[in-house]
Amino acid sequence: MTQQITIQSPDDWHLHFRDGSMLNETVAATARCFRRAIVMPNLVPPITNAAMALEYKNRILNAVPDASQFDPLMTLYLTNLTSSQTVLDAKAAGIPAFKYYPAGATTNSDAAVKEIEVLYPVLQTMSDEGVMLLIHGEVTDSHIDIFDREQVFIETILSKIVTSFPDLKVVLEHITTKQAVDFVSQASDNVAATITPQHLLLNRNDLLVGGVRPHNYCLPVLKRNTHQEALRQVVASGNPRFFLGTDSAPHEKNKKENACGCAGCYSAWSALELYAQVFEELGALEKLEGFASHYGADFYGLPRNDTTVTLIKQEWQVPREIVLPNGHPIVPFFAGETLQWKLG
Ligand code: NCD
Ligand code: ZN
Repeated sequence: MTQQITIQSPDDWHLHFRDGSMLNETVAATARCFRRAIVMPNLVPPITNAAMALEYKNRILNAVPDASQFDPLMTLYLTNLTSSQTVLDAKAAGIPAFKYYPAGATTNSDAAVKEIEVLYPVLQTMSDEGVMLLIHGEVTDSHIDIFDREQVFIETILSKIVTSFPDLKVVLEHITTKQAVDFVSQASDNVAATITPQHLLLNRNDLLVGGVRPHNYCLPVLKRNTHQEALRQVVASGNPRFFLGTDSAPHEKNKKENACGCAGCYSAWSALELYAQVFEELGALEKLEGFASHYGADFYGLPRNDTTVTLIKQEWQVPREIVLPNGHPIVPFFAGETLQWKLG
């Protein structure tokens, strides 16, 4: 039985660092194993232009224990006011991507896009300039069932974007359904997807059976086990258009354990280990490196990392609670659970 695996250092192609003193917690947790991360812009107010992104990047770099070991890749929040000039400025500042949140889709998305068609000229500029579009793929119409929102988004909005902009590089973030797996598998090489540890490890029973489990609540919400199985099969297949994006998204304990609990799982302290567990369960440990360390860099047109990390087969327990720099507790994803793999 495999006792140790060494892989090229991984990157996290989707996460939330937040801001202020929280960065001392979140950035250190990610930089312990990932060399780069695509940083989501959903702060309050959102990061909407290159100048804001570069300031935010500096705040992140100030929180990195060893700045030569970690490179944050910034994104801008697409709003109804984003212009082609915003895209040109982003490109000049080395910002690789914009994040499209349908209005009201998730945490801090109130500023987001109401009618994507209005922004088609901006998407054309992104396509022309090689700036990527990262998508939270859920419709927000109140009459659409929450478990159907990803599928309906794919059918009504994503398929049109992909047809209208065949050269635009698109990442459908944190996919949760078989429909998303099928759509991305059948789309052109310019369309990819990220997958989180929670959507590989859990299904909606883990959210609702035996009581509501707020620490497993994230958006898009966990789906039924047939969808989980489709996600597991596609990562086990080694398809290079599906790669690692943790969506690590911390919320303080009292915001999660609440009558109206926040969406988001804080997985940074155990993410790579959780993915290793999934790949081992699938009998596909040899596919972990491609998923975690190769396919994302290749899709973004960036070099693969020149360092390695080693995972050791050794049981350890995820902490039940972490105290944030502001003194408030947070419950990490998989708190108190025993994991099989440990970062060496
Ligand atoms: C994220 C957050 O908390 O910022 N929450 C989540 O459930 N994933 C936002 C997001 O990625 O949708
Ligand atoms: Zn996210």
